[in-house]
Amino acid sequence: MLVQRPRGTSDILPATIGAWRQIEDVVRRTFAEYHYAEIRTPMFEHTELFARGVGETTDIVEKEMYTFEDRGGRSLTLRPEGTAGVIRAYVENKLYGQPGIAKLFYLGPMFRYEKPQKGRERQFHQYGCEVLGSDSPALDAEVVALHVYQLQEVGVQGATAVLNSVGCPVCRPRHREQMLARLLPVKDQLCSDCQNRLERNPLRIFDCKNERCQRLLVEAGAPTILESLCADCEAHFAAVRRYLEALGVPYRTDAHLVRGLDYYTRTAWEIKVEGFGTLGGGGRYNALVRELGGPETPGVGFGTGMERILLVLAEQGGTSPAVRRDLDVYVAVADEQADVYAMQVLKTLREAGVRADRDYQGRSVKAQFKAADREGARLAVVVGSSEQAEQQVTVKDLVSGEQSTIPLSELVAAVQKLEEASV
Ligand code: HAM
Repeated sequence: MLVQRPRGTSDILPATIGAWRQIEDVVRRTFAEYHYAEIRTPMFEHTELFARGVGETTDIVEKEMYTFEDRGGRSLTLRPEGTAGVIRAYVENKLYGQPGIAKLFYLGPMFRYEKPQKGRERQFHQYGCEVLGSDSPALDAEVVALHVYQLQEVGVQGATAVLNSVGCPVCRPRHREQMLARLLPVKDQLCSDCQNRLERNPLRIFDCKNERCQRLLVEAGAPTILESLCADCEAHFAAVRRYLEALGVPYRTDAHLVRGLDYYTRTAWEIKVEGFGTLGGGGRYNALVRELGGPETPGVGFGTGMERILLVLAEQGGTSPAVRRDLDVYVAVADEQADVYAMQVLKTLREAGVRADRDYQGRSVKAQFKAADREGARLAVVVGSSEQAEQQVTVKDLVSGEQSTIPLSELVAAVQKLEEASV
């Protein structure tokens, strides 16, 4: 019986690695441009971290975590997202003790037990960032701007930030009271999920896909959180929007936007592409560091799904990354006696940073040239016993067909010269 990969996972095969690498390269370059440093945290954490960090009432914690007991009887969970782990590391390693703010980014697999479908997997990949130590609205705007900019640089067209403010510990409880006052009388008409949410997290009702719930919100005159913000949150939100306008970041506000994680305060957003859906989400979280045992420290960040980027790029067409050559030189062995010499030539090339390979299947020289073409090599280096005797090599330019025999000591320089000419 063939053992297959678990549902909701994929094998990323060599043919598609180029597209992944291209995204990763843009992500690393753009994070560097914005002066972020990379952080790598464990793939699994104590379950309690996510219960406290992401929130007990979220779908992620209630239904989607890969939780298991290890042999020592501890409850561990494969990370469903990156923020909680980064904040734990920030607190545990006392990064708050360093001067200035911390600007951290990460990239890697996350795990959620969701119903697999297009763009929704059980092991998926995110890149994201967390900035800790400032409550400035300029920072919210910069992080949103970066979120959109990265997607543009990757080649996604039409990425727009959809922005809301979800308030703070001053305005949220007030909003909750108003929601309860308006909706409790019609509670039994809400869907079962929203009946549950009404007491625990009424804001989530705005996020319900059920049309009847949305109608009830309007009929009952339930206020949006944007209508209920305190003066400080309102001023913060207005400032964020002013910065975004000044920076020319494509965005719109949506008073109904609610994120699926509980840690957000004030600014929250998602990046959408018309006709496709959501590519990423983020927001400010001013209480999370303290919630996870650190000092009062404001934070803001986002996460972007890499599978979603690949899907949107494929849908928008024409943006698939250029095929990258991954071999510079193919060493063709003309006769068996030169085999050891071929290995020495390969070693010389590789140690000089030239990507080189050879045939290991005893094929004819003709077949080796064919293989060189197939592998995308720019040059073939032919070695036989006569070359070996003279410590020479025969270099064949696979594009022009030109061929010359040169001393081995000149090979690296010759290859580099040709490589430069072909860039
Ligand atoms: P999130 O909205 O849960 O936020 O996830 C961010 C992105 O990850 C989504 O927009 C989506 O592109 C991708 N994603 C989520 N689940 C899946 C899945 N099952 N399959 C494929 N892609 C998926 C967060 O995770 C927050 N930690 C973001 C953040 C960072 N907020 C502040 N800092």
